[in-house]
Amino acid sequence: MKVLVVFGTRPEAIKMAPIVKEMQKRTDFEPVIAVTGQHREMLDQVLEIFQIQPDYDLNIFKAGQSLTYITTGALEGLEGIIKKERPDCLLIQGDTTTVFSGALAAFYQEVKVGHVEAGLRSHNLYSPYPEEANRRLVSVLSHWHFTPTEKNRDNLLREGVDPKRIYLTGNTVIDALKYTVQKDYQFEESLLNGLDYENKKVILLTTHRRENIGQPMKNIFSAIRRIVDENPQVEVVFPRHKNPKVRELSDPYFQNHDRIHCTEPLDYLPFTNLMSRVHFVVTDSGGIQEEAPALGKPVLVVRRETERPEGVEAGTARLVGTEEESLYQACQELLTQPQAYEAMAKAVNPYGDGHAAKKICDALVGEK
Ligand code: UD1
Ligand code: UDP
Repeated sequence: MKVLVVFGTRPEAIKMAPIVKEMQKRTDFEPVIAVTGQHREMLDQVLEIFQIQPDYDLNIFKAGQSLTYITTGALEGLEGIIKKERPDCLLIQGDTTTVFSGALAAFYQEVKVGHVEAGLRSHNLYSPYPEEANRRLVSVLSHWHFTPTEKNRDNLLREGVDPKRIYLTGNTVIDALKYTVQKDYQFEESLLNGLDYENKKVILLTTHRRENIGQPMKNIFSAIRRIVDENPQVEVVFPRHKNPKVRELSDPYFQNHDRIHCTEPLDYLPFTNLMSRVHFVVTDSGGIQEEAPALGKPVLVVRRETERPEGVEAGTARLVGTEEESLYQACQELLTQPQAYEAMAKAVNPYGDGHAAKKICDALVGEK
């Protein structure tokens, strides 16, 4: 089966990598890899770690790119590749603009679409923005729907998707995690090797969502700054997304603080190993909400709603919103109430058993 695997951003690359690896070791697949280059450095970091060499690279990235620019650049570029390769399936993962453009480009060429991580819904079209719209639009255009959880499958059934086309596979992010986290991992970054994970309380922070840019991010940074100032045993590691707005907004709160460490985006290997060592995580990321429960780390989700309620129900994730006070209180609770902390710090795996890539490949060849 000839599969055109399309991705463009960091999280898509991480979650597609196990599928690419699975296809490459089997004889029943001919994978062709096309990256849009919606992200540049953050995508290349992942390609290098998983040693994936794209057959095509549209290289559309430009600083300050608009949604329209990404959509049209990817759509036009992918058209040529699809016409040349004539794949049996175009495979996409997630909810980014690359994903939407990929599905649309395939639809226009009458190529069947396989959607990995299908069926996630926040039920608010504007949050996450534009991802909630992307994932709904992609569901309409897809032939195969690979859902991580039963809730995701139920969302699709409610929208009238044919049950025969839905495959419950788990999330490939759990497959990827199996290869990266090691007990005796040594960081190359001296900062991360030097942190006292046993005696200090290290908080890992990430934030990049479009709807959080502006006042919500200021609230988050202000709460974290108060937490650090009031708790001398706390250290914060903040690998900053490449979006310059995240830097501009955080600098006034975090610059030159000896216990707040702002870094470049970390490679996937050190990032996941760092996550496995910290005390807890504060994030608005989708993928990190899935990884933290698997690693037994409490995660405070700085968003108003989540399309990943499974972690919240399992007790390891808490949706705290983007008000300063609510994040401050939630952090204080985890830092000062051992029982509250222990209740959240348990390893659960609502997002898969680590065999999603194989299940996806089997489903694809099982029914062309
Ligand atoms: C995109 C996805 C989002 C996903 C996120 C993962 C869309 C609409 N959004 O958001 O769903 O959660 O990726 O990280 O598809 N930049 C760089 N170098 C890079 C990457 C980004 O400099 O390697 C900067 C650029 O200034 C760019 C900005 O970040 O303009 C935003 O990048 P963009 O891909 O438009 O959106 P993200 O916020 O990264
Ligand atoms: N990640 C990484 N380095 C970082 C921050 C995150 O490798 O500095 C990984 C993380 O482990 C997860 C993925 O990137 O697998 C999440 O990507 P991101 O938060 O950018 O996007 P989202 O999941 O919100 O779409």
